[in-house]
Amino acid sequence: SGGKLWGGRFVGDTDPVMEKFNASIAFDQRMWDADIRGSKAYVRALEKAKLVTTDEMTRILQGMDQLSEEWSKGIFVIQPGDEDIHTANERRLKELIGEAAGKLHTGRSRNDQVVTDMRLWMRDAISTVTENALQLISTMVERAAAEIDVLFPGYTHMQRAQPIRWSHWILSHAVALSRDVDCLQEIKRRVNVLPLELGFDAISLNSMDATGQRDFVVEFLFWASLCLTHLSKMAEDLMLYSTKEFSFITLSDAYSTGSSLMPQKKNADSLELIRSKAGRVFGRCAGFMMTLKGLPSSYNKDLQEDKEAMFDCYDTVHAVLQVTSGVMSTLKINQSVMEAALSPDMLATDLAYYLVRKGVPFREAHGISGKAVFTAESKNITLNQLTVEDLSAISPLFGSDVSSVWNYRSSVEQYSAPGGTAKSSVTAQVEHLRNWLKKQ
Ligand code: ARG
Repeated sequence: SGGKLWGGRFVGDTDPVMEKFNASIAFDQRMWDADIRGSKAYVRALEKAKLVTTDEMTRILQGMDQLSEEWSKGIFVIQPGDEDIHTANERRLKELIGEAAGKLHTGRSRNDQVVTDMRLWMRDAISTVTENALQLISTMVERAAAEIDVLFPGYTHMQRAQPIRWSHWILSHAVALSRDVDCLQEIKRRVNVLPLELGFDAISLNSMDATGQRDFVVEFLFWASLCLTHLSKMAEDLMLYSTKEFSFITLSDAYSTGSSLMPQKKNADSLELIRSKAGRVFGRCAGFMMTLKGLPSSYNKDLQEDKEAMFDCYDTVHAVLQVTSGVMSTLKINQSVMEAALSPDMLATDLAYYLVRKGVPFREAHGISGKAVFTAESKNITLNQLTVEDLSAISPLFGSDVSSVWNYRSSVEQYSAPGGTAKSSVTAQVEHLRNWLKKQ
């Protein structure tokens, strides 16, 4: 197996289909920088251990710098025998500096290298994705602050529930994303554990565990799945709000597409794609978990499957977060439509609270209010059109002051406890998230 790093004990050639099947260079070349950083640190350690001379170390370091330049200029030429990024870099180093290149691999295996490279690469990837998420959260928090006076219907089971602030809805999603960021920082702590050299937080406790586990990859894949699940929920709400039937929001042209057939169409493709990607990344997560299940300990080539899953999830979450930021910063709300969509039946709970304030136990008040809803429906009028006579026929406790119930703004203002939809409460949520953002 001419020229291969491991070719010594082989006499026969690799089958060409096998060669391609075995190679990871097509996708792991994007870790070229991490691979070079790892090797530079490693050769310094070899010099300290007197396994290479100072002169050899200098030549290897210079060769590595030249490799860096070739990769960054896009002029590195991958050769047919370059199995993976580690092999490619070592092959090219030897061409550049000669036999001394062969000393670099003293005492290390590609199994150490691959996990070192991935952890290095992932540290940077996590920083980028964290920035993307913070950008999105900040856009959402500032939008919530600016539009705090806008009310619209809140839904449960997709049925009209109670009036809420539009900002309360925005922040419900921002809070989930802030949990995602917190969680990602936890994962980063575990990614930042080192199998070889370089200033990580900690070194791996056990070498077999170090090279044979990919928990840090799985955690990232799961993290991406949950984060995109949060965004798919938000996208689904927005898609509904953007339909002609709702017309609560208007998506910017920048994030919409048209139909090749129907000239009037403006489709929310951005939201649909955001919604779709959760399925894609969770598929990656589930697929890689299946690969891991039942593997024997230490390194097995199955682990090479970690990279496409990781790169794809990173690329996907990186793109989704940016597009979502764009969507959220450019969409327009139609305040009058949102507020006109509120209806008196959404104040049936408030009607029950009116009775609660007069000493009626909530369960009973709920029943009385329900009767009022039924009466209004059978008379084909809205709840607030019931006269005091209609109401006092249901309960003698209703008086003319019941008219104060029919006010959406005072309704939302009742909910001033932490987490509520009153202006003071939503403002406190905005402030909390602003402070949290400052600490990131
Ligand atoms: N390309 C391999 C991977 O990505 C590198 C490790 C190969 N090690 C080995 N002993 N064949 O996992």
